[in-house]
Amino acid sequence: MKQKKASRHADATPHAAALIEGLRDIGYSLETAISDIIDNSITAGARQIRIITETSVDEPFIAVVDDGSGMTEDELVAAMRPGSRNPLSPRDAPDLGRFGLGLKSASFSQCRRLTVVSRKVGKTSAAIWDLDDVAIRNEWMVQLPDDISGSPGIDELGNTGTLVLWQKLDRLTGGMSHNAVKRAEIINRRIAEAERHLRLVFHRFIETPKRLSIELNGRQLLPLDPFATSNPATISDPEEVLSLNGSEVKIKSFTLPHHRQMSTTDWEDIAGPEGHLKSQGFYLYRGERLILHGTWFGLCRQSELSKLSRVRIDIPNSMDADWKIDVKKSSAQLPPVVRDRLRNVIERIQNGSKRTYLKRGQKMVDNKRLPMWNRILADDKIHYKPNIDHPAFSAFADSLPPDLRRGFLNCIALVGASLPVEALHADMAGTPEQIVPDSVDEDTLDQAVKATLSVLLGANKDINEIMALMKDVDPFRSAWDGTQRIIAATIGSKEKK
Ligand SMILES: Nc1ncnc2c1ncn2[C@@H]1O[C@H](COP(=O)(O)OP(=O)(O)OP(=O)(O)O)[C@@H](O)[C@H]1O
Ligand SMILES: [Mg+2]
Repeated sequence: MKQKKASRHADATPHAAALIEGLRDIGYSLETAISDIIDNSITAGARQIRIITETSVDEPFIAVVDDGSGMTEDELVAAMRPGSRNPLSPRDAPDLGRFGLGLKSASFSQCRRLTVVSRKVGKTSAAIWDLDDVAIRNEWMVQLPDDISGSPGIDELGNTGTLVLWQKLDRLTGGMSHNAVKRAEIINRRIAEAERHLRLVFHRFIETPKRLSIELNGRQLLPLDPFATSNPATISDPEEVLSLNGSEVKIKSFTLPHHRQMSTTDWEDIAGPEGHLKSQGFYLYRGERLILHGTWFGLCRQSELSKLSRVRIDIPNSMDADWKIDVKKSSAQLPPVVRDRLRNVIERIQNGSKRTYLKRGQKMVDNKRLPMWNRILADDKIHYKPNIDHPAFSAFADSLPPDLRRGFLNCIALVGASLPVEALHADMAGTPEQIVPDSVDEDTLDQAVKATLSVLLGANKDINEIMALMKDVDPFRSAWDGTQRIIAATIGSKEKK
């Protein structure tokens, strides 16, 4: 038998200067880069993480200081090595890392000089990757400085912990490095924009019961819970568990409260700069850290009707390969088995979300509630018709001679038939919360309140019941102060008589 010839090998050691520059461009943003550094601190068991930025000095810097386990010098040198761990090795459950790259790739995406100072068992070690130094030496040799006493952020280190310091922030300045004031302005704005991302990505670590505090320039970051779970009007479904290759995927759907059941600040906070429409969808967490959000993974469109739906998916780090988690921890793909299950979830929650929007409309079909409009479902079509039996209409119609009465009822029917359905539809698809009922003037309100009151009092209803009934429907609901005043005046004058 012919023996296979051993293949030859040639030296293909990467050029340090070229490869390390290449590591800069794998697509981090400032917020995903800082998140990657925070991941490491959390994995190291930190209870407090402080982000300190100094932008108005000659050499601006960003520092992340934690009180985690820290590293010895050997561990630090290993940590500075690109590819410090094999991505195929299993990791402990709370470990947020995978690739042995994040510390380096996240840092180089924002700066040309990375200093890590770490303190463990009373000993402080430091190591520096300076890309300008690597460019000259073209070697994979990390600097080990003897004296780092003057280094920014160093005084913030406690008995144990790690400081990650970014200097030479060339990427953050947007080419404004020569103008110190403009440069500070740009960096500060970018940092402020990153704040919301951090509040969202790490909300489960920083909400009560508190496991972790994250401070940005001395200010504690408040958790941003995208499901508004503390709002009693949030509807949540029971958690579903899906087993996959010995690991568990946990799925829980939430329907956010209607915007009227939330303060405007909270509503806008959880909508974010992209708005609610773009923020609906799956929220994928890996080890409770948010990886991505605001997507239905191509399973359905982000529509107005499902815009209150958000689905939490929890996965452990043992499923990283199945979900194709990337180095930046900001993208993933659905494993096929999960895809099928999520299709059902989407169908169910979309129906739930639709209900939340229609709830206010459904009151209209409840005859006990005095609707001005009726919502009628017939032949699979929905019609909205003015309710001519409403006391405000019928009392006036009854006061007219037959000819005029017919004319009046025809006018009302015309209003109903010419409801601007297309315009409403277009507005609903944009910002439905901006659509509000038109306000009525005093005289119109006066007539409507008096007619309604007279019919209801004639039906022997007590005044509290009448008030409760009227408070719930427009136009009285939207002009409730005026309505109450007219009711009080009408009842007062009746009693005097
Ligand atoms: N703040 C820290 N405290 C203690 N050890 C740290 C800290 N930051 C990094 N390390 C050590 O450095 C190693 C390398 O970190 P790096 O972020 O490059 O990779 P990783 O976290 O293992 O994986 P990934 O590339 O997925 O982030 C970590 O595995 C950890 O052992
Ligand atoms: Mg990491």
